[in-house]
Amino acid sequence: MYVCICARVRESEVRSAISAGARDEFDVGEACGAGTGCGSCVERICGLIQDGKSPLARAS
Ligand code: FES
Repeated sequence: MYVCICARVRESEVRSAISAGARDEFDVGEACGAGTGCGSCVERICGLIQDGKSPLARAS
């Protein structure tokens, strides 16, 4: 499923960027381009970043 339509970036790619060390939407944008167009996906990207910080997300 695409998170970012503008850059055609899938959720799995955003999660990979976060796993590789992206800490905010700017890092994610640098890593895979997501969020660098219209900006409408930035809220979703921030949600994925928060998921990555959650102890429950790390445990699963
Ligand atoms: S949908 Fe991601 S920048 Fe437009």
